[in-house]
Amino acid sequence: MCGIVCYVGPKPCSNIILDSLKKLEYRGYDSAGIAVYHNGEINVTRTEGKLNRLGEALTQAPLDGSVGIGHTRWATHGKPSEANAHPHLVDHIAVVHNGILENHLELKRELAQEGAVFSSETDTEILAHLIARARAETGDLKSAVRQSLYQVQGSYAIAVLSTHEPERIVVAKNASPLVLGRGEGETFAASDIPAILEYTREMIFLDEGEIATIDAEGFAIEKLNGDPVRREPKTINWSPVQAEKGGFKHFMLKEIHEQPLAVENTVRSRISVETGDVASERIGLDDASALRVRRVVLIACGTSHHAALVGKYWIEALAQVPAEVELASEYRARGPLVDPNDLIVAVSQSGETLDTLEAVKVAKSGSARSLAIANVLDSAIPRTTDGALYTHAGPEIGVASTKCFTTQLAALFMLAVFLGRRRNTLSQDRAQKLLRGLMEIPNLMREVLTVEKRIAGIARQHAQFSDFLFLGRSYSFPIALEGALKLKEISYIHAEGYAAGEMKHGPIALIDKNLPVVVIMPHDGSFDRIVGNLQEVLARGGKAIVITTSGDKVLDGLDIERIEIPPCPVELTPLLTVLPLQLLSYYVADFKGTDVDQPRNLAKTVTVE
Ligand code: F6R
Repeated sequence: MCGIVCYVGPKPCSNIILDSLKKLEYRGYDSAGIAVYHNGEINVTRTEGKLNRLGEALTQAPLDGSVGIGHTRWATHGKPSEANAHPHLVDHIAVVHNGILENHLELKRELAQEGAVFSSETDTEILAHLIARARAETGDLKSAVRQSLYQVQGSYAIAVLSTHEPERIVVAKNASPLVLGRGEGETFAASDIPAILEYTREMIFLDEGEIATIDAEGFAIEKLNGDPVRREPKTINWSPVQAEKGGFKHFMLKEIHEQPLAVENTVRSRISVETGDVASERIGLDDASALRVRRVVLIACGTSHHAALVGKYWIEALAQVPAEVELASEYRARGPLVDPNDLIVAVSQSGETLDTLEAVKVAKSGSARSLAIANVLDSAIPRTTDGALYTHAGPEIGVASTKCFTTQLAALFMLAVFLGRRRNTLSQDRAQKLLRGLMEIPNLMREVLTVEKRIAGIARQHAQFSDFLFLGRSYSFPIALEGALKLKEISYIHAEGYAAGEMKHGPIALIDKNLPVVVIMPHDGSFDRIVGNLQEVLARGGKAIVITTSGDKVLDGLDIERIEIPPCPVELTPLLTVLPLQLLSYYVADFKGTDVDQPRNLAKTVTVE
């Protein structure tokens, strides 16, 4: 996730671009930059940190000119720094990019052999070199961009400005958003509607594999193969505030819906279904360390701790290595025993949670190998560990973690497969099936999210209860814990997550008509046993909301609310069963009118004890 803005027209554009970038700051805020053409040159200003730093730099040294491109960055390759900020300028060609180029390492090697010198660690600069090289050959910017895009794999939305054709900007899109807007004698492009809503309401959304040239008169869109594209503009009637959330009422709801793409981005380029394997250079752990591991210790807090619990099940099942999950606050305090053959895995969305960071430092003192699974590039925890596996979920603004949870799951699943393959506990055939299943998860997630309206209805009927119980077995037990945490943190309703097998050891005493029980029971090896637990709940007058796999007959005729997920490999059910629970808590909270994105007493990043 990054934000792009382009302007071509008669007005001085640097402040227009800066103001538009501010509307995209939710897409990235670790560095920013702007390139403006003026008198035969492209002048670039870039700063690390939030956009106000770029604003200050532009106040001190204004950029003249009326054709420009701007970018606000969310780091994926290369730490947040001025050198890694976009635009990247190579041979009078400036490029901004949102997305991930999967084959950047191969391309970089190739370009370096030809003498290219790089001034950043980004994948984007590689694209700038490709375009500059192709432009020198063809003499035409659009052809150069097209030719370069044929060489890259991955996701992109790009904008390219060149001193050779200063009256226009070339933009292109594949799997990252880009919208074009026409004003009075001026034309805009941006990653999202709110950036340019102030200037125009007539917008055209680029489709996958399209390239466009924009100038002050408008734009011409083509397919990458050169076929012209005709598309009518759409009139956008959103209010600016609504638009920043992409039309969703809250960031949390937007982020729930971003999960299919976020998981795609996490998995993209790391796995090969053909070989049934996960690439070691993309997972932060080398083959020798994978073979040496005798125990995996997963350390985390809150929602990340629940992801780690699922990770334990996967690591033990697929890699046959004992795995333990530790609450970071407890682990760091108790003086744990660390073996040099342990693999310490710290799971943290922010990468800054103090307890997790301190726990990693404690574990590292025992010379064990350490790995961070984090979303924020170059944050404190991945800087402390030996390796890092980034989830690439993009910035998560809602305090309640949703897309970062499911991308952590995807990362942990890949880690388990990686360990299993290296240690020969997972056959190629089974790994192929599991990885194929993982590749299909984003589409199955999209299917699950279509039940939103029904869940909103169920939420409305249950919002007045003061206590909830969440039950699950096996892979669904950590999901029960996560469902309960989501509900309590944003709706302030008391909720408990329990292993269903523990019901008889205490919580069954709570059950009566005033206790809704959410039972997470996809078709897996525990299904028959959890049906027994469900019957026990119903026999005591409890109200049950059941998350199960579609096509089930056993539950027919029971007085329950049933929410279905499509069939998928048993191991992968947590990536689907959690979605209805996120929606349920969201709609209960929304119905109660709480501050969903910033619930009371909570902070997004907990950097205190
Ligand atoms: C709950 C939530 C928190 C975080 C926890 C750890 O929705 O977001 O429980 O999971 O504070 O944060 P990270 O993952 O940043 O270490």
